[in-house]
Amino acid sequence: MAELYCLGIDIGTSGTKAALFTQSGQAVLSKTEGYPLYQPHNGWAEQDPLDWWDAVRKSVSGLISESGVAPADIKAVGLSGQMHGLVMLDANGNPLRRAIIWCDQRTARECEEMTALIGRRRLIEITANPALTGFTASKILWVRNNEPAIYEKCAHILLPKDYIRYMLTGECMTDVSDASGMQLMDVPKRAWSPEILKKLEIDGNLLPRMCESPDRAGVVSTKAAGETGLCAGTVVAGGAGDNAAAAVGMGVVKPGSAFMTIGSSGVIYAVTDKVSIDLDGRVNTLCASVPGGWTVMSCTQAAGLSLQWFRDNFCLKEVLAAEKQGVDVYDLMGGLAEEVGIGAQGLLFLPYLMGERAPHPDALCRGVFFGLSAMHGAAHMIRAIMEGVAYSQWECLDVLAEMGVAADDMMICGGGGRSRLWRQILADTLGCTVSSARHDEGPALGAAILGAVAAGLYGSVGEACERIVARERLNDPIETNRMKYRGYFDLYKRLYVNLRDDFERLNALQK
Ligand code: XUL
Repeated sequence: MAELYCLGIDIGTSGTKAALFTQSGQAVLSKTEGYPLYQPHNGWAEQDPLDWWDAVRKSVSGLISESGVAPADIKAVGLSGQMHGLVMLDANGNPLRRAIIWCDQRTARECEEMTALIGRRRLIEITANPALTGFTASKILWVRNNEPAIYEKCAHILLPKDYIRYMLTGECMTDVSDASGMQLMDVPKRAWSPEILKKLEIDGNLLPRMCESPDRAGVVSTKAAGETGLCAGTVVAGGAGDNAAAAVGMGVVKPGSAFMTIGSSGVIYAVTDKVSIDLDGRVNTLCASVPGGWTVMSCTQAAGLSLQWFRDNFCLKEVLAAEKQGVDVYDLMGGLAEEVGIGAQGLLFLPYLMGERAPHPDALCRGVFFGLSAMHGAAHMIRAIMEGVAYSQWECLDVLAEMGVAADDMMICGGGGRSRLWRQILADTLGCTVSSARHDEGPALGAAILGAVAAGLYGSVGEACERIVARERLNDPIETNRMKYRGYFDLYKRLYVNLRDDFERLNALQK
């Protein structure tokens, strides 16, 4: 019998990755296509949905022609993507403006508006989260408040991966894991909330229909088949937000299991079988990609993004050396940081380059190097960035522990998870063993698995994960290191508290 295949497509922040897997989860080939992030003002972040579609067309058609796999043998497509981004389409399905993406922080005023209209307690009861600048609802209100002519023309509101689904299938559809990050949903009931929509005066007809992640959500259209090389009629699954898809790709689907991502953002994601909410909004509660499951999730806005920012602005020498040696520049940067000891010789980094979500929902805070000395160089700053991101994860893990949400055996994925040093820093600071899936494909594999279930190749997500995902134990915590980090961590936590008002002052100066 011919081998069958599934395709996972992940619409990330730095690029789109299309990855082809056999039915049993063996990675065949993957392709990544990058695109720009636009930051027209301090704290704003936008991307062009047409860039995403272009990246999908190129990566998928490239993948099919290079792999030699017959399109008819690709039985399903699963979609995953950066969460929360606002895509607005006109009645003809054309984007009305660039997407306002997850790490954009312009909507502090709209969050106040939402809280006033709905009431903080009721908002949390229904959407499982307080009003958040990162989530989609406040972005919708911002467009209505600031660009009324665009809002007027808006016929469809979609999330990033759902725009790609629209282009692939013609369907306006989303899945519960991604939809719960829009803050328009009744998260316990896994459905749009008529009460929230009414109080915010948002027309429910603008929103896509909703399904569970492993449900069948449409088929590839003839037009999209022509553009991607896929067969018309190929099943497209509901899919999931990138973190919920990564959870499937790591086999983190049962209550009590957890993983972290060090991608553009840094995430800790724990699966629960009931809705647990932090009333202070320090961590977020969403629907999981497994029917009947929820998640408590933290998001450090700029994790890998901090290191990428440092690479792009200050590591030209390393970038050129890496090109010459044919190695990954992040490996060279990791090597530099390894030569500096714990604490980066007295240098601390607060990773608030894009404001922060967890555990400090604060649109106005910004990044800090603290303790900078003339003796410090790039190596210290790289180490401080890695440690600062780990301290942020540590602070978030402490909130989960306070809520009684178990997350001790940690899987890891995302680009940062490929750095041995960063993994060890995380194992030491979080005090737990860090393992990865044998195929480090994260969200793309998760999306492909959801596709496989939608196409009927497996009976359930749990069954597919058991057959496909294998674990690899990578880094064990070193207790003496944790003790050394502890003092720096305590100081790291104080810095935010001490600087909170000054971040506000700094913001006011720019008005
Ligand atoms: C999660 C979040 C980020 C993005 C990054 O709430 O905002 O993890 O999904 O892609």
